[in-house]
Amino acid sequence: MRKPLKKAVLPVAGLGTRFLPATKVLAKEMLPVVDKPLIQYAIEEARAAGIEQFCLVTGRGKTALVEHFDLAYELEHTLKERAKTEALALLESTAMPPGSLMSVRQQVPLGLGHAIWCARAFVGADPFAVILPDDLVLAEVSWVKQLADVYAETGGNVIAVEEVPREHTNRYGILKVGKDDGRVAEVLGLVEKPKPEEAPSTLSIVGRYVLMPEVIAEIARFEKGAGGEIQLTDAMARLIGRQPFHGLRCQGRRFDCGDKAGFLEAQIAFALSRPDLAGRVRGFLKSYL
Ligand code: G1P
Repeated sequence: MRKPLKKAVLPVAGLGTRFLPATKVLAKEMLPVVDKPLIQYAIEEARAAGIEQFCLVTGRGKTALVEHFDLAYELEHTLKERAKTEALALLESTAMPPGSLMSVRQQVPLGLGHAIWCARAFVGADPFAVILPDDLVLAEVSWVKQLADVYAETGGNVIAVEEVPREHTNRYGILKVGKDDGRVAEVLGLVEKPKPEEAPSTLSIVGRYVLMPEVIAEIARFEKGAGGEIQLTDAMARLIGRQPFHGLRCQGRRFDCGDKAGFLEAQIAFALSRPDLAGRVRGFLKSYL
């Protein structure tokens, strides 16, 4: 029997410098796509996969991310008094069961691996999902759920992967691929941000992972990798051969909301997927093309 996947770690300590000045006082994960902040999409995606416990790895100036999931008593009271049922329902979508959300601080930005290590007490001895809220997904089935389903079959670590143009391999973790049925690929190696000419493939890691708790001990070696940072990819690479390790090409589309053009594309794709907006958005878009 595999241990059920009930925990998710969301690293959200990043400074968001690519979105200054918007992110001067606002956490980048609070930026909305249409009308919902990125962090809420990430939490909803995890809940759709049966995740029940969440740990946000935050930093200074990021308290709004935790506040967002708290009870807004005055607002709720006012909306109830005014019988604003639609607005109330939207507010309720941010409600979390008591005790299901915690946060830890990553005081110094030492890398993604280090951020995950900061959540070690939360992880304990359980499998856990990692969700990078910058990678926003539009899909019928939650990507965390798609990964969890493969984990239930194969056990071990499962990461979301996607083909990228070879000239972009230096932006991602890249796989060395073994047996591959076109959907699930066996992972034989992982390299963080290799130069195009050195990349073992063009299959890249996307910001969704199901990981075994043993990865924490590997991170704790604190070896510096690409960019001088403590990389999650390097710690994962050391588990290969000791535990099953697979990459899954998930069904659906992913938008890089850490990038301005990717963020704008997400706005349009999500707006067009919404019955209340699609018609109007399609109408005005035509006038710009
Ligand atoms: C991180 C990971 C990288 C992964 C990427 C996905 O990089 O280190 O392996 O491919 O997320 O978005 P970052 O975007 O934080 O540089």
